[in-house]
Amino acid sequence: MRLLIVGSLEGHISTAGQIAISRGTKAACADSIDEALETVRSGQGAELLFVDIKLNIGDLVTRLAAERISIPVVSCGIGTNADAAVEAIQQGAKEYIPLPPDPELIAAVLESVAAEKHTMIHRDPAITNILNFADQIASSNTLVLITGESGTGKELMARYVHNKSKRATQKFTAVNCAEISETFLESELFGHEKGAFSGAVARRIGRLEEAHGGTLLLDEISEMHPRLQAKVLHAVQELEIKRVGGITPIKVDVRLLATSNRNLEEAVNNGDFLENLFFRLNVVNLRLPALRERPLDIPVLAEHFVDKYSISNDKTDLKISADAMGMLCQHAWRGNVRELENTMHRAVLLAQGGEITAETIALNNTESIRASISVAPIAAVSPADAAVSFVARTVAEAERDLIIDTLQHCLGNRTHAANILGISIRTLRNKLKLYSEGGIPVPMPRESETPTQY
Ligand SMILES: Nc1ncnc2c1ncn2[C@@H]1O[C@H](COP(=O)(O)OP(=O)(O)OP(=O)(O)O)[C@@H](O)[C@H]1O
Ligand SMILES: [Mg+2]
Repeated sequence: MRLLIVGSLEGHISTAGQIAISRGTKAACADSIDEALETVRSGQGAELLFVDIKLNIGDLVTRLAAERISIPVVSCGIGTNADAAVEAIQQGAKEYIPLPPDPELIAAVLESVAAEKHTMIHRDPAITNILNFADQIASSNTLVLITGESGTGKELMARYVHNKSKRATQKFTAVNCAEISETFLESELFGHEKGAFSGAVARRIGRLEEAHGGTLLLDEISEMHPRLQAKVLHAVQELEIKRVGGITPIKVDVRLLATSNRNLEEAVNNGDFLENLFFRLNVVNLRLPALRERPLDIPVLAEHFVDKYSISNDKTDLKISADAMGMLCQHAWRGNVRELENTMHRAVLLAQGGEITAETIALNNTESIRASISVAPIAAVSPADAAVSFVARTVAEAERDLIIDTLQHCLGNRTHAANILGISIRTLRNKLKLYSEGGIPVPMPRESETPTQY
């Protein structure tokens, strides 16, 4: 994860940067918007921008969009000037962080933008066998396709392969092919030359070039447009690329890893995925089993997540009771490790008296609802109550209650709520805006926290 801090922030830069660095983030600084754009274009890269609210955030967001650069912008400012914060969000900032920086808030924002780099926690032989296989193929340069249901740890596995490879000291970068539109993704991957399209005011180095010597993860590759699949195939075969609008081929030495939670063979049969690219990718396939297929992992993962969230929530020595653990082990975990993580995060927030009990967890079991809306479960209703209260309601209604409930638990803090729900802050905001416009009361952040509209 790389963070670029833009502007002076009146001396708070180093504090914010240090907090980010202590969370494993690489931080760099730029004095102005021009300098920030230059850094981003040059391939030195940034996955997140922290921008002084005194700078022209609207201009930065517009220029990034014109150059087809998709990096989230978070505005930062001294104190809580509500108007300035609201304006920054209206201009396209994803979040506002008041300064001096609160380590918790910075950590939550970083986490919501890029999943933290954990070590792979495991005990079940099903996963140990795959890790052994991954160890064997890591040092070669072969492409690797990592498959598995949503939330099984595919991205984590990609990092594992990189860290075990000869490229471990080089860069690992990831591009999510599902999150970026076709034209943006093309620029993101291949870069572009000045004048390639009307907003292309300068040359931009793409991720394939930037990752030279290292590893690039094409996350959710099944969602990539076939036209771009063909360009990626060319890059794989010829080990060279052309920037958008460019004519000179550029040699690139990048190891490609890809993930998919859709069946790629089926996509090939449906004509949505290039057969040749599939064959290239499928030389090595690491299939991550669902959590229900590796039950021995559940206790170690549950304990790991309790430790993780206990530290960040100042709750030390939290224990999981035996009946709570029994309940966790019996659950079907359709959302896999991510769902378990969200459940344990919420359990830590709710736990009282130093123990996570079955009751704290039970609260969550409205399985069919969870599966259909794929967010973390409600934690404050018993299974029986939940079943009753959800009967004969639409998924949209259930989702709305879940969101508002979670927001209440987080005392209105949007960043924390979005994290627990497993959705982006922007999605959360959009939904809250709709609810509010529909006359539904939406919990607001506490006064000392981020002043936001919704
Ligand atoms: N074995 C593990 N040990 C520790 N944490 C894990 C493990 N597996 C997954 N996680 C955590 O669970 C979450 C989901 O993992 P990850 O993002 O790698 O899954 P994914 O398969 O890429 O999900 P998606 O299908 O949604 O893209 C992350 O927060 C990750 O750190
Ligand atoms: Mg993923």
